[in-house]
Amino acid sequence: MKSRVLSGMRPTGALHLGHYHGALKNWVRLQDEYDCYYFVADWHALTTHYESREVIEKNVYDMVVDWLAAGLDPERCTIFIQSRLPEHAELFTLLAMGTPLGWLERVPTYKDQIDKLKDHDLATYGFLGYPLLQAADILIYKATYVPVGEDQASHVELTREVARRFNHLYGRAADFEVKAAGALAKLAKDDARYFEKQRKAFGETGAADALAKGEGMVRKAAASVEGWTDDDSELLLGHLRGAGKTILVEPQALHTEVAKLPGLDGAKMSKSYGNAVLMREAPGVVEKKIRGMMTDPARARRTDPGDPQKCPVWQFHKVYSDAATQDWVVKGCTTAGIGCLDCKQPVIDAIVREQQPWRERAETYLANPKQVHWIVEMGTERARTIAKQTMRDVRDAMGLNY
Ligand code: TRP
Ligand code: SF4
Repeated sequence: MKSRVLSGMRPTGALHLGHYHGALKNWVRLQDEYDCYYFVADWHALTTHYESREVIEKNVYDMVVDWLAAGLDPERCTIFIQSRLPEHAELFTLLAMGTPLGWLERVPTYKDQIDKLKDHDLATYGFLGYPLLQAADILIYKATYVPVGEDQASHVELTREVARRFNHLYGRAADFEVKAAGALAKLAKDDARYFEKQRKAFGETGAADALAKGEGMVRKAAASVEGWTDDDSELLLGHLRGAGKTILVEPQALHTEVAKLPGLDGAKMSKSYGNAVLMREAPGVVEKKIRGMMTDPARARRTDPGDPQKCPVWQFHKVYSDAATQDWVVKGCTTAGIGCLDCKQPVIDAIVREQQPWRERAETYLANPKQVHWIVEMGTERARTIAKQTMRDVRDAMGLNY
């Protein structure tokens, strides 16, 4: 069975090349190797855009079209919308009960974003809680890997802590100790003493050989003790490891080397900064935008040499051009052998070429919106099956199955 991958994206605007190279391209690649779940994080968008419902409404399905255009294949991955699964909210609520406030206040993105997004009032309960909502998104699918950018690594770390705490608080039934003692009593006296010795050693020092010896004893008991059950093995192994059942799985962040594509002005590409090239931008607009791109200010005149390191166009060449073209740029720029418009042309051509299959695929989907809805519908139901099962486990563990 393939490991599960989960990631989400906020529907706050049409996707641009920064989204593609920073995340989406990687999502497409992961489809083959993993059981991938990708969702539209519309509730997350509301944590910052709660005053602009029309932004989110408009972008939910547009974003799915961008995903499909980029090559997400509904046959090979599961695409869904967060708000269609109230289970995420239920898990968020239950996790919120035991999550220390300090864990959320310390998440670095919290203060960063409040400073950065000055035109949004982010002194809200929802915004503080949003990394915990993200934790619920991840934990509800028991995802092994979460592909996220560096900036979100702290959210995955928080998710791990939340899972650990949950398993610690609720991972063992109230009578676990009593039952484990019952299983221990089935062992011969010497074996029981030996087992307890290994358990203590492992608990105090984490020594792997003590763990292995304890596990060996459980195997021996399973093979030789009369009336031994699988439950007995399970109980003693849980007792040995000092943990109960793993109900929520600790995920790992999946950081892949991604090419960093800046905006047209060298700052981070963002639609709200007006420096973005959209994934489905018309070729004429791509050309105009790239031709207008900022360059090394030292090249005020065609005859002034420049330094690619100081030019955002060079960052584009690093993503789009082969070694020969890159050599041509470095040589031509530093000797004033080429002009900036010459330099930009291969980038324009490469972007237009890259976009061509996106445009074609998007056209098919845009002409057939029912199909897009159907894809999301199928994905949502697939996700629901897993989310429901996890919530049953969680409610059980927390004693909420009245
Ligand atoms: N917080 C992520 C972002 O802003 C989006 C997101 C929401 C997400 N839930 C997630 C990403 C779960 C990965 C896993 O980009
Ligand atoms: Fe930038 Fe190319 Fe002009 Fe050099 S020649 S400044 S790399 S656009």
